[in-house]
Amino acid sequence: MRLLLTGKNGQVGFELQRALALLGDVVALDRLTCDLESEVSIREAVRRFEPNVIVNPAAYTAVDKAESEEGRARAINARAPAILGEEAARLGALVVHYSTDYVFDGKTERFYRETDATTPQSIYGKTKLAGEKALAATGARHVIFRSSWVYGVHGSNFVKTMLRLAGERETLSVVADQIGAPTSAALIADVSTLVIRRLSETNTAGLEGVYHLVASGETSWHEYACHVIEYGRAKGHVIKVAPDAVRPIATEDYPTPAKRPANSRLDTQKLRDAFGLTLPDWRGSLDHVLEQIL
Ligand SMILES: NC(=O)c1ccc[n+]([C@@H]2O[C@H](COP(=O)([O-])OP(=O)(O)OC[C@H]3O[C@@H](n4cnc5c(N)ncnc54)[C@H](OP(=O)(O)O)[C@@H]3O)[C@@H](O)[C@H]2O)c1
Repeated sequence: MRLLLTGKNGQVGFELQRALALLGDVVALDRLTCDLESEVSIREAVRRFEPNVIVNPAAYTAVDKAESEEGRARAINARAPAILGEEAARLGALVVHYSTDYVFDGKTERFYRETDATTPQSIYGKTKLAGEKALAATGARHVIFRSSWVYGVHGSNFVKTMLRLAGERETLSVVADQIGAPTSAALIADVSTLVIRRLSETNTAGLEGVYHLVASGETSWHEYACHVIEYGRAKGHVIKVAPDAVRPIATEDYPTPAKRPANSRLDTQKLRDAFGLTLPDWRGSLDHVLEQIL
């Protein structure tokens, strides 16, 4: 199997380089070797390698900055998946693409299913949803994984930010009224690999489409931060903030340019049933990553 991977230096891209190697020859590209803002660059990369599978974790992920850079966010998150899809359709290749909980407004009280109405509240969410639709419209074989609250050993993320701030400050305020599931880049990469393998077999009718892919369980950003900080303290990491000085605050007390969903919980039943998978609790994967970071 020949696999073309974009965004190899991102959190998920980095883990995919490791995991996809189990399936065949991986050509891993970065911004210099495949610039998703350039149609020519994308088409040339695909035509040069003629992959059987295109895996596209690269994205414009600066959620707040996207509010003032819609053109770039749209080119990378919406137009690029369409171009990859067009090239894949020509080759008969499978496209594995990634999306987000931000396609929902977060106003429901339950876990979101793949069939729920999408109403993104931010430019980032709108461009990611446009990418989902544009890829599907090309007619290429495809799987789209929507995930949430992604972190990993490689790259910048909430876990590393909390460890840094907890080492610098005596008090911290963290939003407590947004709930979701922290999901490790390694879990996303491992599940992607199993799904690609299954889709390379015969009798795959009905298996393509959108899937929610997150760790099991749920938490708030505040509880998540406390878990990270206490783990760091137990491991002897420099932590200045006292356990009772990590204060829960409301979203309205931490204004950001982009609106975030209050409920980011994604229902993974469809993925688990279709591929016979178990998705571990968020704490297990988080502790594994913390062991590597600390
Ligand atoms: N992070 C989250 O919390 C989260 C939550 C839900 C869904 N997702 C989705 O999951 C996927 C992976 O996210 P992630 O956290 O791994 O993202 P990430 O760490 O921010 O990595 C994004 C990658 O995209 C690359 N990229 C950006 N612009 C590019 C361009 N013009 N051409 C080529 N490459 C470009 C970046 O390259 P450079 O290294 O050169 O900047 C980087 O390697 C994305 O589709 C994202 O939307 C993420």
